Amino acid sequence: MALRLAIFASGRGSNLLAIYNAVRRHELSGIELVLVLSNNSKSEALAFAFENNISAVHCSQISVGGDALQYEQTLLTILSEHRIDLIALAGYMKKIPKVVITAYEGKVLNLHPSLLPEFGGEGMFGLNVHRAVLHSGQSVSGMTIHFVENDYDAGKIILQERCPVFPEDTPETLSKRVLALEHHGYPKALQIVANQIEQSHSQESNGASR
Ligand code: GRF
Repeated sequence: MALRLAIFASGRGSNLLAIYNAVRRHELSGIELVLVLSNNSKSEALAFAFENNISAVHCSQISVGGDALQYEQTLLTILSEHRIDLIALAGYMKKIPKVVITAYEGKVLNLHPSLLPEFGGEGMFGLNVHRAVLHSGQSVSGMTIHFVENDYDAGKIILQERCPVFPEDTPETLSKRVLALEHHGYPKALQIVANQIEQSHSQESNGASR
């Protein structure tokens, strides 16, 4: 049975589109995109999901009344109601509550626009990352997809892809080059994780039938 994927996105949603297209073109197998969740009711990601008949849910601590516990419980309920197996954070600007990470251990992926552990950590998002890369004088950058743990941008790396940094780059030109890697890499990383999960399920069922 296909794994049920939720994508969490706060803004533009170009990685959501890349994953959606990979699923639709059968370049990504064993995964079904069933939910898009956003903390931002105005996000393009949410509008895209709505227009394409994917469950689109707006949920933030503010939208549930400001209470942190209530927010955590609401997130868990949404995920369980949609029978979510896997969560991909794609430009999601909020920290995921610990209870969600614990409930979905090894099933939450994040995307970061640098070669972690370099240029990761708190405050390192969007153009800040590319500014820091340019400032450091590095000649190579890239993107990382990793499992989510409680610390920012920590967690086992699933996939990294690299691109050159040119002397004439601006944060904007570098971000475009890295974004192209993200669009190519996120479906690949999801396939790696889906294959691992499938493998562990079949090992478990082989063990049980012995
Ligand atoms: C990407 O650049 C990603 O690296 C960062 O947020 C951006 C998301 O872009 N974490 P999009 O919303 O998928 O277009």
